[in-house]
Formats: sequence, C-alpha cells, structure tokens
Amino acid sequence: MADSGPTAPNLKPSNPRFSSGPCAKRPGWSPAVLAEAELGRSHRSSAGKSRIAEVIERSHGLLGLPADCRLAVVPASDTGAVEMALWSLLGPRGVDVLAWESFGKGWAKDIADELEIVDRRVLEADYGCLPDLGQVDPARDTVFAWNGTTSGVRVPDGDWIAAGRTGLTICDATSAVFAMDLPWDKLDVVTWSWQKALGGEAGHGMLALSPRAVERLESYEPAWPVPKIFRMTKGGKLIEGIFRGETINTPSLLCVEDALDALRWAESIGGRPALEQRSRENLAVLERWVADSGWAGFLASDPATRSRTSVCFEITDPSCPAERQADAAKAVKAGLEAEGAAYDIGAYRDAPPGLRIWCGATVEARDVEALTPWLDWAWEEAKA
Ligand SMILES: Cc1ncc(COP(=O)(O)O)c(C=O)c1O
Repeated sequence: MADSGPTAPNLKPSNPRFSSGPCAKRPGWSPAVLAEAELGRSHRSSAGKSRIAEVIERSHGLLGLPADCRLAVVPASDTGAVEMALWSLLGPRGVDVLAWESFGKGWAKDIADELEIVDRRVLEADYGCLPDLGQVDPARDTVFAWNGTTSGVRVPDGDWIAAGRTGLTICDATSAVFAMDLPWDKLDVVTWSWQKALGGEAGHGMLALSPRAVERLESYEPAWPVPKIFRMTKGGKLIEGIFRGETINTPSLLCVEDALDALRWAESIGGRPALEQRSRENLAVLERWVADSGWAGFLASDPATRSRTSVCFEITDPSCPAERQADAAKAVKAGLEAEGAAYDIGAYRDAPPGLRIWCGATVEARDVEALTPWLDWAWEEAKA
C-alpha cells in the first residue's frame, strides 16, 4: 500500500494568525469597530485631537505609567520612535548598546555608522543568549530591546539597571509592552508600536519619556541635524503639545480608532494583568508541547529569559543535520500556510533557521493548543 503520509489533525486554530507583527487582531474584532472613526477630519480638529489624546491617556493608564511620564504618538512606528530617541538624546555621554538579535544589532549599527558615536560599547551575544548585563555602566546611556523579537530572548527583569544611574536607559519595548512587567522608574525612554501586542495597525509609534529624558532634551543639542519628523524641542524647550495629541505630522484617524478599540478591549478583559496572563498561558501551551515534541526546542537557552510573546524555536531532531534545518523549517511553515493552520511562523530572516510563534494577548490559548498537533503533522510531512 502506498504511504499516504501522516494523518492531518481534525481541528484547526480558529484564527491561524501567529505573525510577530503585525500581530493578530483582538478576539472579536471586526471592521465595525472603526465605524466612529473621524475620517475626513483634520487631526488638529478638536474631534481628531481628542481621539489621539484618548489613545495617550488610555495607554498611560493601562500600562500604569508614572504620573510624570510623558507619552506621545509618533511617526514611523517603533522604528520611528527609537530613532527619534537616538537622534535627539545620544551624544553627551558614552553609550552601551545591548545587541543579542537583529533589532539590537540594528540600533548598534546606527549608533556607530550614522551617529558615529565614538565612545560606544556594543555588548553582544549570539541568538538564544543575553550579553552580560553586569557589564552595563550606569554612568553611560544604555540602548536595548526589552524583548528581542527575532530570538525570543528577553531581559529577565530590571534588576541590572541602577536606580541611581546618571546615564539614560533607552528601551525598545515594542514586543514586550502589554505582555511583560516593565520597571518604568528604571526606563527613561520606552518605545512601542500599535501593530504588535494589541494587534493594532502599522505605521504609528508610541514614545514614553521620563523627566530625566526631558531634562536631557532641554539641556542638550545634538551635533548632527535632526529631521523635523524627530524634533521634540523648540528653542530649547520640550514641545509639550506632542504629548497631548498634537502630533508632529498627520496620523491616520482610522488607525487611531483601531488603537482605541484595542485599548478598550484590553481594559475590558482586566487590563495589564489579564493581558500578561493570556500571554503566559499561550507560552505554557508551547512549553508543554516542546517537552513532548522531540524535534523542536526553544532558541532561548535560559527559561528565565524566554519570551512569552515572540516564542522562537530551533529544530533539535538529531536526524535533521544543521545544513538541512533551513529547508526543513521552510517546509513546516509552508505546509501549515497551505493548510490554513498557521500563517507567518517562520524565523526572522536574520535569525537561525526555525519557527517563531507569536503568543501575545490577542492570541487565544485554544488556538495555540489547536496549532500544536499541526506542528507535529507538518514536521512529519517535512521529514517524509
Ligand atoms: C524589537 C523590535 N524593534 C523594532 C521593530 C520594528 O518595528 P516597526 O516595524 O513597528 O517599526 C520590531 C519589529 O518587529 C521589533 O520587534
């Protein structure tokens, strides 16, 4: 009898969207949530501005930001928010950049090649590991991603950040915020985008500034030109309007409405603790699966640094040699897409071959459960 291959599981995830950005929309989302969007209105009208301000206020409240922390909607997504901070703040002190995956490496490259900061140290580690956080010097500025989205490795906590630091901490938290507890008193700049943890739309970023970051902005002028799109001061004073909804340039009020829907949903399910719990439960499903799978393992070498949003896997099946892993992982990804069981779960292009499954709060644990037999099915198919 001809071998007909492994039997496909019966049940598929009801939402097969496991991309690490843009991430799945929140459960129950439909285009109807956009019905009240202020389309065709100026973002500077009181209606438009109040919607943008509401995004700021709800995000501030949901995340429990300190009262003196300023928050803005900024252009160009998380990248825009990070680059605004780097271009506007770096220069007066030495800089430590933590680079253990693609995004941290990208920030390190810009600091070296674009800003040409001479007094810089790049604290590096391979995919799967963290650099030695004990090396970070609190007298220098520190640039890092809280969660390395492309390796699934995060910093375990903020204990390594000195409370009495004199440098600034600039934290790219786009795949951490709303899913991981952040020590806001130890972070001077925090950035994220709408398209990640709450499943919003692409193109818009958020920038949170501590009073110390504002003090730096008002007391220091970079030696390089700062494009209008990055500029947060005028005549040496912070442009406060930016942090009240008077955006630097034109945002999409359709995306604003969608962001508001995501924030209201997050509040309705119990706020940040509930979001974190959903993410934890999603990771727990994959932890149980890995323990039994026999062919996949976490790329993060230490469970304390394992991401609960961008969960990254390498192929550990001894019958699959290193040189075959990239093709095998591609076959698993393609097989699952063809079946409509999982979309976009391939490892990031710069990361070691493997899989990456988003486990943020907009993903349902029962969909992750339903995915696991499909992963095993796809592996058997790929092997065959
Ligand atoms: C850690 C990190 N930084 C930056 C980015 C870039 O984000 P965006 O495309 O929203 O600018 C991403 C996107 O995945 C990311 O994961």
